[in-house]
Amino acid sequence: MRSTSTQLDLFAHVAAAYADAPASTLDNATLYGIIAERAGLEPDELETRIPIGKAGALHNAAKRRIRWYQQTLKQLGVIERVDGERGIWKLTENAGQDLQKAAAGVKLVAFSTELGIAVWSRCESVFGCLNEPIALCVTSPPYPLRQARAYGNPDEARYVDFICEALEPVVRNLIAGGSVVLNISNDIFEAKSPARSLYVERLILALHDRLGLWLMDRMPWVNFSKPPGPTWWACVNRVQLTTAYEPVFWFTNDPARVRSDNRRVLEAHSDRHLRLMQAGGAQRSAIYGDGAYRIRPDSYGRLTEGKIPRNVIQRGHACNDTLAYRQHAAAIGVPTHGAMQPTSIPDFFIRFLTEPGDLVVDTFGGTIRTGLAAERLGRRWLVTEWILQYLRGAAELFRDFPGFGMHPALATVGKKAC
Ligand SMILES: C[S@@+](CC[C@H](N)C(=O)[O-])C[C@H]1O[C@@H](n2cnc3c(N)ncnc32)[C@H](O)[C@@H]1O
Repeated sequence: MRSTSTQLDLFAHVAAAYADAPASTLDNATLYGIIAERAGLEPDELETRIPIGKAGALHNAAKRRIRWYQQTLKQLGVIERVDGERGIWKLTENAGQDLQKAAAGVKLVAFSTELGIAVWSRCESVFGCLNEPIALCVTSPPYPLRQARAYGNPDEARYVDFICEALEPVVRNLIAGGSVVLNISNDIFEAKSPARSLYVERLILALHDRLGLWLMDRMPWVNFSKPPGPTWWACVNRVQLTTAYEPVFWFTNDPARVRSDNRRVLEAHSDRHLRLMQAGGAQRSAIYGDGAYRIRPDSYGRLTEGKIPRNVIQRGHACNDTLAYRQHAAAIGVPTHGAMQPTSIPDFFIRFLTEPGDLVVDTFGGTIRTGLAAERLGRRWLVTEWILQYLRGAAELFRDFPGFGMHPALATVGKKAC
């Protein structure tokens, strides 16, 4: 049995052979010869036939392996058969250009670390057959936009079913008190109307009624660096205000056992509050709100570790990981993602809702920020994303983590693929 790394090298040789061939086209006999040379196979390795399978039919093991890699490249949309020819394949025109979406049933570990894996797949193909306790799902699904993103969007009419179907297997595996955090859009409008869609309300009710999730909080992610919109209803017809937030919904399957702990997300006290605590607290008595709030001479006098965060997340788009992702994507020649979150958003929820070692997942991975935050925080992670190019760019953000490995098929992705 060959070592895994040799098998992976062989895969890369097969991919590279097509990329280097005249007109990117190769017949199988030539392919076998090129691979033998590139991989340094012994001359008899391509000739010796051994009994394989139950029937014991004689086959050459190396050629079979090469043909198997050929099939994987076909599944990846990298190569295709030349019409009407037997055993002749060529690079597809789209290889490295159009977004390559995983077909139903395709599951390929795009890259992995000691703590987690990013799988090129539709989420349903992976989570549908998962049997592993999940502590948290932090995800930002595609929004039901009228003008679809490059990666595709479900329409509003099917949206509730789409999200419930995607999350059902996650919720089935959620440990008691585990959480689901959903970042969606508030800015979906009724057709030809400045009125907002009620899809958000329908979705919350469906997640409760169909999946048994309880709403713990709806937190606005306030982002003043959002471009001004909705253009038609705020900038052209001046009937709406420009938007500056997206809602983030936090659900759990068991509020009585929810595993959140705000001590894991404490913020630094302001200088003013520190001074107040150090001075022994308020030096006065006051009553506000018809007696609901009282200040006594020792109020706020106890030294505490930090400030409990408010349930509003204020973050701009600026993020070093987004910057790094863009640079890597440009260098490799893959398109950048059109809807990246700053990593600090999943980072906050992972700290608040999980403990080291817990499994954190993201069904709609994009540039794998949930995975990245989980990796840095010592949580295990599993993320699916159906566009191969996004995974290629994201892989670069994980290179320095222990155990990093990338499937060689990913090296064939991009205009400047190696
Ligand atoms: C809003 S983006 C997520 C962005 C991500 N949070 C980030 O910061 O990069 C949604 C992602 O879901 C992916 N997607 C859509 N449908 C999918 C499916 N059925 N399975 C897996 N990924 C899917 C899209 O390709 C897109 O990258």
